[in-house]
Amino acid sequence: MTTPTDTDVLIIGSGAAGLSLALELADHAKIIILSKAALQSGCTQYAQGGISAVLSEDDSLTSHVEDTLNAGAGLCDPDIVNFTVSQGPERIAWLIEQGMPFTQVSDSKGNINYHLTREGGHSHRRVIHAEDATGKAIVSTLLPKVNAHPNIRLIEHHIAIDLITGAKLGLSTPRCLGVYVLNINTGKVIVIRTRFTVLASGGAGKVYLYTSNPDVATGDGIAMAWRAGCRVANMEFIQFHPTCLYHPNAKSFLISEAMRGEGGKLKLPDGNSFMSRFDSRAELAPRDIVARAIDHEMKRLGCDSVFLDISHKPKQLIIEHFPNIYHHCLALGYDLTNQPIPVVPAAHYTCGGVMTDRHGRTDIEGLYAIGEVAFTGLHGANRMASNSLLECLVFAHTASLDILAQLKEIHPPPPLPTWDESRVTDSDEEVVVSHNWDELRRFMWDYVGIVRTTKRLQRAKRRVDLLHGEIYEYYSNFCVTNDLIEIRNLTLVADLIIRSAQLRHESRGLHHTLDYPEKNPITQNTVLIP
Ligand code: FAD
Ligand code: SIN
Repeated sequence: MTTPTDTDVLIIGSGAAGLSLALELADHAKIIILSKAALQSGCTQYAQGGISAVLSEDDSLTSHVEDTLNAGAGLCDPDIVNFTVSQGPERIAWLIEQGMPFTQVSDSKGNINYHLTREGGHSHRRVIHAEDATGKAIVSTLLPKVNAHPNIRLIEHHIAIDLITGAKLGLSTPRCLGVYVLNINTGKVIVIRTRFTVLASGGAGKVYLYTSNPDVATGDGIAMAWRAGCRVANMEFIQFHPTCLYHPNAKSFLISEAMRGEGGKLKLPDGNSFMSRFDSRAELAPRDIVARAIDHEMKRLGCDSVFLDISHKPKQLIIEHFPNIYHHCLALGYDLTNQPIPVVPAAHYTCGGVMTDRHGRTDIEGLYAIGEVAFTGLHGANRMASNSLLECLVFAHTASLDILAQLKEIHPPPPLPTWDESRVTDSDEEVVVSHNWDELRRFMWDYVGIVRTTKRLQRAKRRVDLLHGEIYEYYSNFCVTNDLIEIRNLTLVADLIIRSAQLRHESRGLHHTLDYPEKNPITQNTVLIP
């Protein structure tokens, strides 16, 4: 089947944000969803803990708002927090209508309710989940519906390279009109013309050597939006998840925060607990505090990991609540039910991103950003656990309403220039790309990680500038490939992270620097303008 080159709405990304937006629009518009790898390749597929929303009578919207603001360390936008939290119950109801199999339990009177778990920063049980594999359940619920809809075309293994805007072409409209896309299997670049373009392309965890994120998380959406002229904000706030399994054969395997929510304890190699020395909420402190405490203890003791222990809980509870994690660990030789398991922090979530309003609109007309790629103001200096999938659902919904309201007035774009390959040849030295991948991710981990200093950031900046020059030259001379597109984007995103970190002269939330250890009394978002 040939790839279509015209559509009403082009959605770049097939995670929670992209799939739910497509379903909300599909009865009214022609949709294309692009994924640069398999459709289940994004972070959504790997989400474990669940989705936060106020769903029990003991809980309240005010409490969810307060917890989010606290975790965000003074940088959340209170209006956006209020708005997102208040939309939560309705978005969960929508997901249930689609057939989402959330875990249920029966109470003492035999009534069946959805089970709510707890995670760091939440003062109530409010995380609804499907066992310990909530993301996989979201994708398996939404994908078949998307696949079956006659107005939606799903295209895998096609990577968006750059946005085409009227401004770039010197037209009277500055609008986003289309996208250059590489068919990864054939090596051909096509142009897709579209009335509305939506970045739902996820985060940038792969900027770091150790990450919980899958391979696709290379910040492409942020890089494309920046090159097209959009502002990005708060890129210094990269969240490190405290507990990824430490095992040579466990690439990026997360141990859900819900395990601490259900009573799991963090321990040192000698078996002693340590979290209460760092925060009165101990294991359930917000993630930035827990990750920093683990980093501190690992450096102090010179150990390779700390340990997470839930073996004091009943075996049946552990296996029922965490079946996937239990079996995965068992296959690697760790039995959660009778021993502690080694864990380390790893890069997990990009709190900053492309600046949007509450409809997902970016600075460029016709271009939206939703999900992890976006900066909405919800997360501030540190995202609270399980608020991300909530954000995907809420902003997919508001973006859908905004697009629907304009569908009739926006005309299809004019013909767009084809991709110009007249001055490039096939690459002669692929090693440049692979070397730069390794170098970038290593120095970002060492110099721009959990604890930063001014000197480390300067070192990182010198190195990223060098890579920038090399990649630019390479990109100008050789045919594009998936790896080249990704390293170009990763280098740009790394530069945005370092520049943002250099601008923040304080320690707040996820940005901690030894040279400015305190919070400033007055603070603001770090906004970079292209
Ligand atoms: P993703 O699901 O990451 O999807 C991105 C899509 O974009 C993919 O289809 C990818 O192929 C495509 N793409 C990217 N670039 C391009 C390009 N250039 N061209 C074409 N396609 C492209 N959050 C929670 O709220 N609760 C949790 O329990 C939770 N657990 C998590 C566990 C793990 C291990 C991880 C990694 C994250 C977790 N998160 C959780 C965070 C949450 O999963 C993500 O923030 C969320 O799923 C992001 O969804 P998304 O739709 O924005 O992007
Ligand atoms: C987890 O299950 O620990 C991940 C939750 C999240 O990132 O929100």
